[in-house]
Amino acid sequence: MDLPRLEDLPDPSGKRVLLRADFNTPLRGWAVADDLRITAALPTIEWLRGRGAAVVACSHLGRPKSASDPQYSLAPVAARLGELLGVEVPLAPEAVGFTAAAMAASLRSGQVMLLENLRFAPGETENDPSFAVSLTEAVDLYVNDAFGASHRSHASIVGPPRVLPSAAGRLLAREVEVLSGLLSATRRPFIAVLGGAKVSDKLGVIGALLERCDQILVGGAMAFTFLVAQGHSVGDSLVEPDRVDDCRRLLDTGRVLVPVDIVIAQEMTEQAQTRIVGTTVPDGWKGLDVGPETAAIFSDVIAEAATVLWNGPMGVFETAPFASGTRAVAEAVADCRGFTVIGGGDSAAAIRQFGLAERVDHVSTGGGASLELIEQGDLPGLAALREGRTA
Ligand code: 3PG
Repeated sequence: MDLPRLEDLPDPSGKRVLLRADFNTPLRGWAVADDLRITAALPTIEWLRGRGAAVVACSHLGRPKSASDPQYSLAPVAARLGELLGVEVPLAPEAVGFTAAAMAASLRSGQVMLLENLRFAPGETENDPSFAVSLTEAVDLYVNDAFGASHRSHASIVGPPRVLPSAAGRLLAREVEVLSGLLSATRRPFIAVLGGAKVSDKLGVIGALLERCDQILVGGAMAFTFLVAQGHSVGDSLVEPDRVDDCRRLLDTGRVLVPVDIVIAQEMTEQAQTRIVGTTVPDGWKGLDVGPETAAIFSDVIAEAATVLWNGPMGVFETAPFASGTRAVAEAVADCRGFTVIGGGDSAAAIRQFGLAERVDHVSTGGGASLELIEQGDLPGLAALREGRTA
């Protein structure tokens, strides 16, 4: 996909650049618990600083209901970004307004500041054009490096390219190259591994993937709707009854593999007593991970793949008794000699939790965004850049 790149921008020296990043990171108290999304934006920030630009970074964090919710402040992100860059990164108390504009106006070449959570202003999610214009008032150029948020038609994503010379940052460009490259994957077999809680969230992407990949391996809670479609009783496992027919149609393709055994428990706790059963779950019990036979089958398929896309855990991997299936898939993806991509979200967290992230080719920073890009072939933020100004 042809996106305007950093090199296409007018000379950034002495200019102020609005950098939309996705710093929506998990926090632990007042500290950043996982800085993947911050480190992923560093190449673009350093590129801009190295060419004499001043960077006005902005992001959302979480889904705050109002501006007065300090748990959604970007203060911990500003502190971590400053540590990583080795410079102070002041945080403006607002995304737009007098103080933010004055702080931006006083920035010098190479300096970086961060605007407060964009979603503290209703104009961001409402995609209010006047909010987008206010964001661009104190800056000269716009760079979108927020891959994880580019599926949102929000003001900071789609607004600035209409008024400022704009480009995709390094992270965004790489994500799009890898993920849209999957859509034309020529290296076969191409295997997708999908998990997670809700099958309804994944039906679109399964349909799109079936046109391109050889097999789809399904685990996680979403597998139980498929098992019901096969006629099994799944006890108290999570099922979406109104999606059973859709799952049956997908199974009819013969290219969707579902679990043949399951780890079940009566409660989802570290101390839970577990049992391994086939595909029938007794009442009072629920399936919380794929079983060892399924893990072995999935691992064998992954081992033979030339291209692998994995999105969504196989079970409740954050809880030890239900982590084995996800760990087995993570290990199989890490060992696979083909081109391997982790589609963001929980599976990205899982591969890092198991210390295997370095052994896959690409770990996406976007969960919803990567699925939507695969399903639709485009995202609002990418279309905005393509249709926007570059000079
Ligand atoms: C994400 O974490 O997937 C992105 O930052 C988008 O967040 P959102 O789903 O709240 O829009």
